[in-house]
Amino acid sequence: MPGLSLVCDFCGRVFPVSENRVLCECGGLLHVEAARASVSWETLRSRRFRLWRYRELIPLPPGTPIVSLDEGGSPLVQATRLSEELKVNVMVKLEGSNPTGSFKDRGMTVAASMAKFLGAKALIAASTGNTAASMSAYARRAGMIPVVLIPSGKIAEGKLGQLRLYGAVIVEVEGGFDEAMGAVLEYSVRGGDAYTVNSINPWRIEGQKTAAFEVADEAGAPGWVAVPVGNGGNIYSIWKGFKELKELDLIDELPRMLGVQAEGAAPIAKAYTTKVYEPIKEPKTIASAIRIGNPVHWKRVLNTVRESGGSIVSVSDEEIIWAQRTLARLEGLGVESSSAVTLAGLKKAINGKLVDKNEKIVLIATGNALKEPQTMNLHETATLKIPTLKIADTTILSEILKSITKFESPEHF
Ligand code: F0G
Repeated sequence: MPGLSLVCDFCGRVFPVSENRVLCECGGLLHVEAARASVSWETLRSRRFRLWRYRELIPLPPGTPIVSLDEGGSPLVQATRLSEELKVNVMVKLEGSNPTGSFKDRGMTVAASMAKFLGAKALIAASTGNTAASMSAYARRAGMIPVVLIPSGKIAEGKLGQLRLYGAVIVEVEGGFDEAMGAVLEYSVRGGDAYTVNSINPWRIEGQKTAAFEVADEAGAPGWVAVPVGNGGNIYSIWKGFKELKELDLIDELPRMLGVQAEGAAPIAKAYTTKVYEPIKEPKTIASAIRIGNPVHWKRVLNTVRESGGSIVSVSDEEIIWAQRTLARLEGLGVESSSAVTLAGLKKAINGKLVDKNEKIVLIATGNALKEPQTMNLHETATLKIPTLKIADTTILSEILKSITKFESPEHF
């Protein structure tokens, strides 16, 4: 395919895009190399605000059939009360509005399209939940069989339900995500029949970078973009997206990237300060989506934060729960725990004087709160039980209102 190939990050070997391949023979990660596109905001903005608005910037072989669920176009919400409290300008990109409830749909539309181009019959991925749900939906959309490897007993209820609904073949792996990912990596290197759509798949990255396009399209380049980090594919993709916009003169400035990991699963944040990368054997955190001890993109993440002049921090489970509740109660935004880490990380960055007053910050809220009923139920709220309520019984209603006022006090957040 002229002007389009897969190149190994590590050894530089080049592969044709017509091969079912997502890793180099040396085990290195591949990236897509494409001839530089040329497009104006005017052309892009003449189309609907969805992912495929940016089609010139998403390289695929000519004639690739697009497998889409009308993904992208997620809301970018101004967080006014939060901004006042933190003395910075916060916007939240609600990726949970995507068709299966997370940002994964951005990469999946591109990877599933590529799978169709290659004639694959099945898609395979290891997952902490969102990738599996997204992949299952797109596999079915394309008429393929979804095969998911998940850590046994560690998947949020909402996601398990989606896997059943879409009829995925579920392989439960003893251990955690890292063990499941290890099996898929081995399978991919050997060149199995099913097409691998974990974020090692270079086409996933091409789709996920569109979150940057949408932010810039609506609000220009912010000062900072905060992204939760599990495997690290997403922060790397978003940074790639901003860099491409700058190369095309579609933005003037680049943002700084703030990666956020959960304290019990933070090998990259640790390596950022100690300069030594060590995988974590048994990662622990309430944020199940990012409970990853050996992230495949760790080198790319370190490059991203260094190159962008950003940083990577870690936050505790307590801080994550506080952030989830604050986003919900100050702004009405329901995000999953792994997305709430961005607010906890921002607070840390402000306290550490990394982020200046009045800077414009976008939090990438990667997934929907509905994924985790158990986590949502950790939060307390005013709940009153009364035997019978007659509509006209004003005494009972005023009692209720009094209790509600008590629960609405700011210190309750
Ligand atoms: N936020 C959510 C909601 C996620 O589901 C994930 C990853 C991340 C953040 C981290 O993104 O890995 O690109 O750094 N979830 C994967 C999964 C691992 O299987 O669904 P990353």
